[in-house]
Amino acid sequence: MADLRTQLQYHEHRYYVLDSPEVSDAQYDALMRELVALEATHPELRTPDSPTARVGGAPREGFAKLAHSSPMLSLDNALNEGELRDFDRRVREFLGDEPYRYVAELKLDGLSMAAHYAGGFLESAITRGDGSVGEEVTANARTIRSLPLRVERENRFETRGEVIMTRHAFERLNEQREQDGLPVYANPRNSAAGSLRVLDPTLTAARQLDYMAYFYLVDGQPAMDSHWKSLDALSALGFKVNGERRICKDVEELIAFCNGFETRRESLPYEIDGVVAKIDSIDQQRRLGYTARAPRWAIAYKYAAREADTVVEDILVQVGRTGALTPVAVLRPVSISGVMVARATLHNEEEIARLGIKIGDTVRVERSGDVIPKVTSVVTSAPDGKAFAMPVECPVCASVLVKIEGEVAVRCLNVNCPARLKQSVEHFASRGVMDIDGMGEALVEQLVDKGLVKNVADLYDLTREKLEGLERMGAKSATRILENLDASRRRPLPRLINGLGISFVGERTAQILADTFGDLDAIATMAEERLQSAEEIGPKVSAAIRLYFSDPRNLELIERLRAAGLRFTHEIKGKPMGPFAGQTWVLTGTMPTLKREDAKAMIEEAGGKVSGSVSKKTSVVVAGDEAGSKLDKARELGVEIIDEAELLRRLEKQ
Ligand code: IVH
Repeated sequence: MADLRTQLQYHEHRYYVLDSPEVSDAQYDALMRELVALEATHPELRTPDSPTARVGGAPREGFAKLAHSSPMLSLDNALNEGELRDFDRRVREFLGDEPYRYVAELKLDGLSMAAHYAGGFLESAITRGDGSVGEEVTANARTIRSLPLRVERENRFETRGEVIMTRHAFERLNEQREQDGLPVYANPRNSAAGSLRVLDPTLTAARQLDYMAYFYLVDGQPAMDSHWKSLDALSALGFKVNGERRICKDVEELIAFCNGFETRRESLPYEIDGVVAKIDSIDQQRRLGYTARAPRWAIAYKYAAREADTVVEDILVQVGRTGALTPVAVLRPVSISGVMVARATLHNEEEIARLGIKIGDTVRVERSGDVIPKVTSVVTSAPDGKAFAMPVECPVCASVLVKIEGEVAVRCLNVNCPARLKQSVEHFASRGVMDIDGMGEALVEQLVDKGLVKNVADLYDLTREKLEGLERMGAKSATRILENLDASRRRPLPRLINGLGISFVGERTAQILADTFGDLDAIATMAEERLQSAEEIGPKVSAAIRLYFSDPRNLELIERLRAAGLRFTHEIKGKPMGPFAGQTWVLTGTMPTLKREDAKAMIEEAGGKVSGSVSKKTSVVVAGDEAGSKLDKARELGVEIIDEAELLRRLEKQ
């Protein structure tokens, strides 16, 4: 077990901190499963730093309050170059002729957190709170893969750093929430904060947070005599330290660093809102000291906000590919950091009510990254403002709209609604799905309006003649589109499943389905219970899959896609399919002849998964002598219970 822990820790560090994995995800998962199984049989040998501790513990009652070792202060801001120069002048006036240098770091847009280590283990994690007392979020912090649970340092120490969510993780989370009919998060910062502060650590674990350390303290004081050295030391201890940092020997270099990253800002995988400059020498830091709220040895250079105020001229509704209606604000065009913005998403009715937006109001609009701009608040509310009401009919096909219980979204259920069709085709063709380059909004619009495409299978019946009859389509573009369509026939199965647009089945679920069952025809005909044997697939998703494949129109579509030569099978990672494929087994007690390891190997050989604990997802429990709590749990949940003889019979039948 110790060996497995060391191996897993090594691979996690390579993957999450160094971004340079040495093994495949499947190899990593196999090691993790082995450790989980060993810990289930030998719970007494489990250690607090075990990589399995990251999967989240039991929900908590509320957070305990813990005091910080020294105040977690905030920073004074410099809003432009002039204010940055003023700061530098004050530093120079104080230090006289002494040489000094700055460490420039990116100002990550997340939330700060202190992590305490003792005896080589992560002991506690505390949010900033009011700066002197924060909330103890240790269980949640343990699920952050880039935060080491174990370090090569016995003595007590503390790191302070930022908990962030990458743009990618944020977009994936919101996509999933949108599909699940849950309110979406406004930005990665909010969703990182929301994820760290949920009471159920399994939720935090699913959210993929990151931690980047920027202070190394002992007894609340800097651990080394130079800030730069302490960043290197943190990195050597296994912490993720932002590599985008630089020593600046004067304010000119500092300004160059700030400006350089302002232009590169959008291409970073995470959001930043500025640069933090710190005096490198801890001795100089001590002498410069603090004002009431912030250190005199550091400053935050804040980039201009990517927001502006403008008037909501109207609110329209757009129909998405799942039929969900999204209200969109039509804005008086306004320039936000160089881009003209005329539309902003309002997400759903609840969001409009929450913000209290009426047509005519002046609102604040925020633009970040490539995502659609959004309205964040009402600045002045118009006295004669017109309240928005969701239409009762679909604005495109006039079908009656439905609000599904437990969902925020209102939906048009007409699968042939042209608006839905256009969006479905765009989704199918988009990058990351079937990746049909050139098949963008404008082309899809024409193809649907001209009746050339009534579903995604029609794409593969497009010919040179049909395409060349379209506007702005020369012989060259037509050739390119046909080539790209042809190339898309070879996309792997998970992409196709995602492309079908089944409710609740996005990129991740499609990948899981393909990895677990390996065959579209199997998925199309499988019973719901069987679908649920896959990781993360619950009753809602399995019901949506069944519903999709019970519609004859969809079945016909699938046949046409098959005829078009698309890939319907996928190599299952790890074990081949066997009679126990998709089943989760639990072994408990002592069996008359088989050793537990052998029984496990035999079940896995037959395609089954062996888990250490009984849950609703357990298919069968094999109970031997002196089976304890697992057997009780199985009885309580109504899970099938068999003995060794029956297990052997079932294995023989294969
Ligand atoms: S130093 C007393 N370094 O910005 C020093 N802060 O406005 C305080 N932040 O609360 C923090 N990246 O949440 C520091 N590289 C960085 C940072 C950073 C982001 C956040 C942090 C802090 C706020 C200060």
